[in-house]
Amino acid sequence: MTLSRRVLRGGTGLLVTGALGLGGCSSAVEPAPISAASSPGAARQFAPGAPGVGDTYFPTYGNGGYDVDQYTVKVRYDPATDRLSGTTTLRAAATADLSTFNLDLAGLTVRSVTVDGAPAKHSRKGDELTVTPASGLIAGNGFVAEIAYEGEPEPLRNEATGVGGFLHTDDGAIALGQPESASTWFPVNDHPSDKASYDFEITVPDGLTAVSNGVLAGRNSVGGWTTWKWAERSPMASYLSTVVIGKFRLTEGEHKGRPVFHAVTTELPEGAADRSIAETVEVADYLESVFGPYPFEAYGGVVISDDRIRYALETQSRPVYSAGFFRAGSNTEVVAHELAHQWFGNSVSLARWQDIWLNEGLATYAEWLWTEHDGGRSAQRSFDARYAGSSGQVWRTPPGRPGVENLFSESVYQRGAMTVHALRVAVGDKAFFQILKAWTAQKRNDNATTAEFVALAERISKKQLDKLFDAWLHGTERPARPEPL
Ligand code: TRP
Ligand code: ZN
Repeated sequence: MTLSRRVLRGGTGLLVTGALGLGGCSSAVEPAPISAASSPGAARQFAPGAPGVGDTYFPTYGNGGYDVDQYTVKVRYDPATDRLSGTTTLRAAATADLSTFNLDLAGLTVRSVTVDGAPAKHSRKGDELTVTPASGLIAGNGFVAEIAYEGEPEPLRNEATGVGGFLHTDDGAIALGQPESASTWFPVNDHPSDKASYDFEITVPDGLTAVSNGVLAGRNSVGGWTTWKWAERSPMASYLSTVVIGKFRLTEGEHKGRPVFHAVTTELPEGAADRSIAETVEVADYLESVFGPYPFEAYGGVVISDDRIRYALETQSRPVYSAGFFRAGSNTEVVAHELAHQWFGNSVSLARWQDIWLNEGLATYAEWLWTEHDGGRSAQRSFDARYAGSSGQVWRTPPGRPGVENLFSESVYQRGAMTVHALRVAVGDKAFFQILKAWTAQKRNDNATTAEFVALAERISKKQLDKLFDAWLHGTERPARPEPL
């Protein structure tokens, strides 16, 4: 029997009415696979969805058995009390016959869950929320889950990768982090392999701004509260979602028919930060000339000032920058880095965290390209400086399998960029830029792996590149200086 994807099933279930008997199960009991023997056709085995997608670096991230297509996150946050409350609705399709499925949710209290409008049982175990629908979900069928929840959000602290997620600030909040963040403020399939579109409706006290991803779809104020509506219509990995709440200097404009929305914290006097992010569209236009069309519907940047965040992050269509980047004056290199991620990381996303060099190596290489374009040192000289000056740690750590503890290490960024340059030297400029453009075109809004990148580079250059990539991505000593192949 063929069942079309994305078809929403009615509350009664197509094949399994009465056969599951899960309604009486305590949600604490792990339901064993149940065969729907009374249904017509082949017997179905309804089994619990896995509590992780099986990423070797982060086995519990994400969940098995379904694929989310769209999230609608409607939350109210009051900085005075640090309380968040609201609902998240997700439209998904089952990829297996499911008796239960999991969502990732850190902290917070779930008040109720419905699946296709019918009440569903739910239980929590650590950061895993298990939902037991009234009847099993059939592989290939769509379903809608709605989760109502509330509480005081807490960030996640990962020993290797630092703090991620929802942080309460003096007069607002910042939800930001990599490799995880989203599950601290909404229930989510928290792995980049399941990209989805997002609608955000964030309600905050009047006078505060709530900035998120994508296009500003409306703002309205009722009874002292303002709701900011944002829409990210291109598929987005969950760690690229953000909300930043506080007092900001806003700049709204348009570029190439797309909205531009910048926000700089009013804690900073107007200056280098404002000037740097104002160059977003100029940098994006340059990157478009080397990587292919800008992949998203909106442009922008957010500058925050919080001692706990000393990074920038490539949150989709609207990177967030720590004010520290602009302390010494204008800095468009960091803008080039975060914008390059819109192609490498955001449009073309990781299928597994081990391949992080595909994001960071290419984004760092984009800095080198931008610097050269902007009249600074050439990409070749940036390479030479790193090749001569990198530490033993960089040469010992293979960026192609850095390990969780070195996921954001210098090797991933700098040796990753050197790998890109080694490819360029080996295949020549013409093939190199063809490879980059073909990669962003063929994998647009998709997920990709290192093996696929190598295969594409070989196909376009018509050269054998295994040795080159092995040495640069997997070797534990400094590779030979690159030469044309
Ligand atoms: N990916 C970010 C960049 O290259 C850096 C980063 C890693 C980060 N982990 C983070 C930023 C956590 C914020 C929070 O720009
Ligand atoms: Zn980066």
